[in-house]
Amino acid sequence: LLLGRVFSGIQPTGVPHLGNYLGALGNWVSLQNQYSSVLYSIVDLHSITQPQDPKLLRTNILDMVASLLACGIDPRRAVLFQQSQVSEHAELSWILGCLTSMPRLRHLPQWKVRIYNVLLQKRSRKIIKQIINNQMKSKQKNEGSVGLYTYPVLQAADILLYKSTHVPVGEDQVQHLELAQDLARIFNHRFGDLFPEPRALLSSTRKIKSLREPSAKMSKSDPQTMATVFLTDSPDDVALKIRRSVTDFTSEVTFDPENRPGVSNLVSIHAAMATISVEEAVSQATGLDTGAYKQLVTEAVVQRLTPIRLQVERLRSDPAHLEHVLAQGASRARELAAPVLEEVKQRVGF
Ligand code: ADP
Ligand code: NA
Repeated sequence: LLLGRVFSGIQPTGVPHLGNYLGALGNWVSLQNQYSSVLYSIVDLHSITQPQDPKLLRTNILDMVASLLACGIDPRRAVLFQQSQVSEHAELSWILGCLTSMPRLRHLPQWKVRIYNVLLQKRSRKIIKQIINNQMKSKQKNEGSVGLYTYPVLQAADILLYKSTHVPVGEDQVQHLELAQDLARIFNHRFGDLFPEPRALLSSTRKIKSLREPSAKMSKSDPQTMATVFLTDSPDDVALKIRRSVTDFTSEVTFDPENRPGVSNLVSIHAAMATISVEEAVSQATGLDTGAYKQLVTEAVVQRLTPIRLQVERLRSDPAHLEHVLAQGASRARELAAPVLEEVKQRVGF
């Protein structure tokens, strides 16, 4: 086992999609077996930075626990917990917020990306793209909440609260991790060494693209229902979505993400789901046109997802068990968090 403490969080967005699974959760499962101490948090405090439906949020939290367990997160190896059940997150976030300047936050990409999601619910995509291209004038910026603005500080608190040393992140999150690193340094400098500087564990996997618009990444917030495969999609749904996926006018299967993003995305999905190399996936497609290849990809996806889907369904039917897993996780997380927060409070003069 590697020494170190891994922390990562995921928003309770309900059942994850293929991109979440291949880009993050699969890696989470490996990391729990590689590091001596691992924490995974369902970060519900983050999800109220945008307007939420309380009932749906509750369901989404339980669906996320069920999904994480079904994907192979083992509560004996990883502390799996719900962020809001460990109030130390919010407390440390406040203290770190007081060490963060407004301009430091203004330059983080989250502001643009997340305001984009807020606006997406209200306006057409085209207009939003124009807004983004206009560099988000201050008028539009005012539509977000204070929580949305300070969200990266809470992320830094999530990480530092456990003196985490390693944080699995996608490339899009690197700048947020830099804020956590800065805040560790700033705190240590002002109040004496306490926090290790957390390091990124960059996931090397290629982003999974939208099945309808392969220039964009697959995302839960994609309004096109055929664009995203969720872990609980039935075999028929998977088949339909892949059959309808956008490719191009060349029938041969090649891997060329620049020029042939659609078919290359299918190759990426096939390779990842069948745990074979991209070369192997392409060679299995020899002699198949893209139509026939889509069936092969469907089989690989269905084969991998079926046990996960069945397990999610089993777990979902027993919410009391899921609540119990969360309660146990929260108590273990609190055991680690409380002494760190206590030390922080003493250092700042409380
Ligand atoms: P979404 O884009 O659906 O809102 P999130 O931003 O909540 O997904 O991402 C949750 C995790 O899943 C992050 O670690 C992110 O890097 C990963 N992820 C999301 N979409 C993809 C994708 N299309 N391909 C690979 N990884 C992804
Ligand atoms: Na997102």
